[in-house]
This record gives sequence, C-alpha cells and structure tokens, in this order.
Amino acid sequence: MRVDRHGRFAKRRVQHHVGGFAAHAGQGLQRFARAWHLATMLLYQNPAGFHQVFGLAAVQANGLDVALQPRQTQIQNLLRRTRHRKQTSRGFVHAHIGGLGRQQHGGQQLEYAGVFQLGHGHGIGGLQGGKEGFDLCGFHGVSGCWQNVGQVNTGRYTMPLQFADRLNNVETSAIRELFKLLGKPGIISFAGGFPDSAMFDVDGIREASNAALTQDPGAALQYGATEGFGPLREQLAHFMGQKGAKDVAPDQLIVTTGSQQALDLIGKTMISPGDKVIVEGPTFLATIQCFRLYGAELISAPVDGHGVKTDELEKLIAEHKPKFVYLIPTFGNPSGALLSAERRQQVLEMAVKHQTLIVEDDPYGDLYFGEAPPPSLLAMSASVPGSRELLVHCGSLSKVLSPGLRVGWMIAPAELLGKATMCKQFSDAHTSTFAQATAAQYLKAGRMPATLDKVRAVYAQRAQTMGDALRKELGDAVEFVQPQGGLFVWARLTGAGGKVNDGNVYAKRAIEQGVAFVPGTPFFCANPDHATFRLSFATVGEDKILEGVARLAKAL
Ligand SMILES: Cc1ncc(COP(=O)(O)O)c(C=O)c1O
Repeated sequence: MRVDRHGRFAKRRVQHHVGGFAAHAGQGLQRFARAWHLATMLLYQNPAGFHQVFGLAAVQANGLDVALQPRQTQIQNLLRRTRHRKQTSRGFVHAHIGGLGRQQHGGQQLEYAGVFQLGHGHGIGGLQGGKEGFDLCGFHGVSGCWQNVGQVNTGRYTMPLQFADRLNNVETSAIRELFKLLGKPGIISFAGGFPDSAMFDVDGIREASNAALTQDPGAALQYGATEGFGPLREQLAHFMGQKGAKDVAPDQLIVTTGSQQALDLIGKTMISPGDKVIVEGPTFLATIQCFRLYGAELISAPVDGHGVKTDELEKLIAEHKPKFVYLIPTFGNPSGALLSAERRQQVLEMAVKHQTLIVEDDPYGDLYFGEAPPPSLLAMSASVPGSRELLVHCGSLSKVLSPGLRVGWMIAPAELLGKATMCKQFSDAHTSTFAQATAAQYLKAGRMPATLDKVRAVYAQRAQTMGDALRKELGDAVEFVQPQGGLFVWARLTGAGGKVNDGNVYAKRAIEQGVAFVPGTPFFCANPDHATFRLSFATVGEDKILEGVARLAKAL
C-alpha cells in the first residue's frame, strides 16, 4: 500500500485493524463483483461515513485501482465538497481502511478481503472483486479470503468501533509514552508537570472540607449550578481582584473542572474544523491536542526569553486572521517565559486593532520567585479600551493548591461564557460541588497567602539549584533563561564541542543514565526545534536535583 506522507500514521492504524482481521480470514467479498459497487454501497448505504468514500477516492487518486474509474467524478465531487484538505483526506483513507472491512450488507456483517489486503500493504486489487482481485494482487497468506466466497459472518466478531473522524487529528502524547519508562528503579524525574505533593496544605484542605460538610452539607453534596458554586465564584472573583483584576464580578466567571476543561470549552465553542488558531511555539501540549481535536489548524508564533515575539505575532494575526490567539504569558509551560509588560500592552492593543480574541491561560502566575510578574492581560485590559471584550482568562488552583481538587475557572465575554456553560452542561453538568465548597472554604479561611509564600520559596530554591547546576555541569552544551517563576526550565542543546544536539536522542541517553525529562519537540504545533527540552524542578529535592543534573552531564 502506498501511504505517502501519512505512512507512519496510516501504517499504525492499518496494523491495528489487521490484527482484528487476521483471525477471521475466510470471509468473502465476492458478491461485490466490481469495485465501483463497493464504492456505491459505501456512499449510499452509509451516508454518515463519508470518510470511507474519501478512502476509496484517495486510493483511486493514487492510481492503484482502475476499476474505480467509473465513479471518479462522483467521488472527486464529494471530495471537493468536503471541508477537509486533500492531504487530510488521504490521512483518513488510511485511518479508515479497517473500517471498510466490515460493512452491513443485506442485514449481515461481511468482512471484505480487500481491506485485509490493504492492511497487509498490497494494492487494492481486492476491491476489484473476487478471484480477479486475488489473481491480480497475489495476497500472501490470506487467500482463504477468496475461497469462502460471500460467506456471511457467523457472528464470530463484532462490528469494529467506528471512531469519530476528529480523532484522526490527534496522536497519543509522546510524553505519555515517555512516562512509561519512568518506572525504572532509581530514576530521577524532571519530566513531570506536577506540583510537589509534599507542598499540599493537607491540614488546610482537611479543615476546609470539614467546614464544607458542616456548614452546608446539603449544598456540598448535591447537584449544583453548571456555572459553579456561588460561594466559590465569589471567592474567586475576590482572588482575581487581589491579583489586579479588580472588576471581575462573580457572574463573569464560571468554575471549570481544572483549567483544562476551560480550554476544552473554548475549543468546543469556538473552533470549527479548519479554523486557524495561533499558539506559541512551544506551548502546552494538551492545548495542541485539544484544539486539534476540534479541527483547528494551529499556527505557531515564536517565543524568546520574554515570551511571544509580539512583532511576529502581529504579522501572523494580520496574515491568518485566526479565530483566536492562545497565550500563556506568565511562566509558560514549557517555556517558563515571562511576557514583559510592554509586550502585554502590545498584545492587548493588537487584539483591539485586529479584533482578535485572545485566550490567556494563567495557571502559573502566582508561582513567582522574586518580584511579582507584570499584571495579567486580564488585569491590564482595564487600561486598553475595548480589549476586555476580546479576552478570555483561564485560572486554576492546581499548581498552587492541589490539582486533585480539579478547580479551575474561566472569565470571558458574557456571550462566550453562556455558550461555554451550555457545553459544560452536556459534558460534566458541573464541577464537583464538594471540591468547589472545599475550595471556597479554603479561600475564605484566608490560607492562600501563606500557602503561596511557602510554595514560592521552595520552588524558587529548587529553580536556583537546578539553574546553577546546569550552568556548572553542562556549561556551553545548553542554553536557557533562568526561570523567574513556574515549574520549568526550558533549555536548548547547542551542540557545542560536538555534544548531542537533539532533545529526543538526549532524552533516551538520559534515561540510560537514570534521569528523565521531556524532549521539546511535542510542544511545537509546527516547525519543532529538536534541540529543546523541558526540565521540571518542582517535585525533586535539591540533593536529587544535583544528582540528576550530574547524570544529565554524563548523558551529553
Ligand atoms: C499551561 C497549562 N494550562 C492548563 C493546565 C491544566 O491544568 P488544570 O486542568 O489542572 O487546571 C496546565 C497543566 O499542566 C498547564 O500547564
């Protein structure tokens, strides 16, 4: 099978399906005498499955199957009508070939040998029908397919799951794959993006949950409003006020199940397949995955040590007219970068000038090590007329208090908030009322400032230790900006002195030396910088940081 540029992807999917078919060789296709019959059937018997027709069309476009010729015009017309680019359609072809294998016909499930052939990497002669196909293509090891002509499935296998096309836009996170290696004994991990569990204010959270259960147990344990638990919305509005966003009323925010859900709701409410969205290069991997799931075409805006390069960003906005721009201006994940006040002002001004929605994701803004960072875009929007109506702000208690609570929030223009609330209704009805009541009690008890002081001090020390050790042990083999907050050091291999200059290669060598981190490539939606990698200093004590960096040096 020719898989073109999508070869890797296609092969994986096809192999997956082939596994399923292999046990069932012996089902026949013969009753479809010619390939265009099959094409027709897919078109009209299964109108919801247009992707399957794309599959045939693209295969046909590869010139592999002359028998599809009679249907070429219809298929090409269909392709033209689709929103998907041809290139994407080709991806679908290969992703769905397995799906072609099991169709209903005359109320019976049949398995088509032609599909099996595709899975095996042969031509699509099988789709031309019957023994001719067999003769033409010479299927290795599956000739049984063609001998049990037209045999009906006896129910030995079930209909394959027909996953949504949108899943073709995303792949399993490379980071997850890496995490599988972390079980190795003795490994020091700088790979996670978590806060340190030892930092959790367990006593404070226990008291807060007791208070939630004592003061209004009915409310804490009952279903609640989708928008969020009233007392928590009030506390969060107050919390935002303390951080400079003084005019946020409780009804201008909704509580979300982590800020991850806010990102998902933004995707759900704003992105139609093919819409352009600008993100930083690099940016938070789950955002890339989430927005792609909704069919976004992501455009990468370059960053430097001071966050997104606003001159480049403006050019991209003018050129692409994106649906929105997604930024992590304060101690970004993975870049750790802090967008300067000047650039923040420019971002808000360009939002107004180009009438572009800006999404500010801010889970790390409270984790600063020295001076407080410039105010959030939300807080600054008060000084740029018209910008507030073009701003969405996502916040979270995950990094400062506990990710297990799953409490995040989203502040957005009223109309967007309304649509997001509607979508949230269908998704989780509301964020856990018990978690929300606990968080509300926690904030009300006034414990947050002390908690923040503590986590800032610990992370600041670890960041310093890691930075110093990297400079000492790795020297000019890496470059990075010393983080002023957040959880991450974003580093770049320079290749100096002939040392390793690829983050993926380095990650493997590092694991061999007993230390783990995340290579930078997956954090880019386009044009990855393969020399980059991300280190988290948050969950590792100082001794371990020193040992881990020494191992990094050995892996160079
Ligand atoms: C930039 C960014 N946004 C959002 C999230 C999601 O956090 P949560 O859903 O726990 O609030 C994370 C978590 O790592 C993150 O790094």
